Amino acid sequence: MSHLIAPSILSADFANLQRDIEMINESQADWFHVDIMDGMFVPNISFGFPVIKAIKKHAKKPLDVHLMIVDPDRYLQNFKDAGADILTVHLEACPHLHRTVQAIKGIGMKAGVAINPHTPAGLLSEIIEDLDLVLIMSVNPGFGGQKFIERTYQKITALAEIIKSSKSKALIEIDGGVDMKNYKKLIDTGANALVAGNTVFSSNNPSQTIADLKKI
Ligand code: DX5
Ligand code: ZN
Repeated sequence: MSHLIAPSILSADFANLQRDIEMINESQADWFHVDIMDGMFVPNISFGFPVIKAIKKHAKKPLDVHLMIVDPDRYLQNFKDAGADILTVHLEACPHLHRTVQAIKGIGMKAGVAINPHTPAGLLSEIIEDLDLVLIMSVNPGFGGQKFIERTYQKITALAEIIKSSKSKALIEIDGGVDMKNYKKLIDTGANALVAGNTVFSSNNPSQTIADLKKI
């Protein structure tokens, strides 16, 4: 399987959201990456259900929704109703992660778990077979446009080993600081999906940048 590219809507122009959604529709991108921040789990607030619904109305590709919120269990059905196809929760925000993952799948979404830079991949070993996706944060969550943390490569290798030694079909997604200089090494190390916000939306030609990120 070729790697997937998920442009992050967080870096889009919110006053021209439909234009940016159409650009992604027409591009070689695979998913829409949708970041939800609550000002509690992370020191920033992004947007909520009305905006997700508005994105869903125009998006012709799956919505990859990344929850950076405390106690996500309260809102799983709301995210499904708003249009999420893949729902990713943070390990650090879920004391009953197994239950949360089952609930996400039970209402018809693919289930992902995200881990912060300080969280070892090994903490996922007991749940890896239940997951569709693991999102490795390669910056501290909360903001777009941050510097990539180099230690991420080691975590990809460790996670790929855990996936290989289990029956898991989980994809490895990398989120934060992905750029034209590191994307190939991330793929070579074992990443299956790359989120890109700043790299796509601050470029002169976002659609071409997405096409460039698809090249191997
Ligand atoms: C950060 C978010 C990312 C962010 C990535 O907390 O989870 O998805 O949009 O942005 P870039 O690619 O600019 O680092
Ligand atoms: Zn994200």
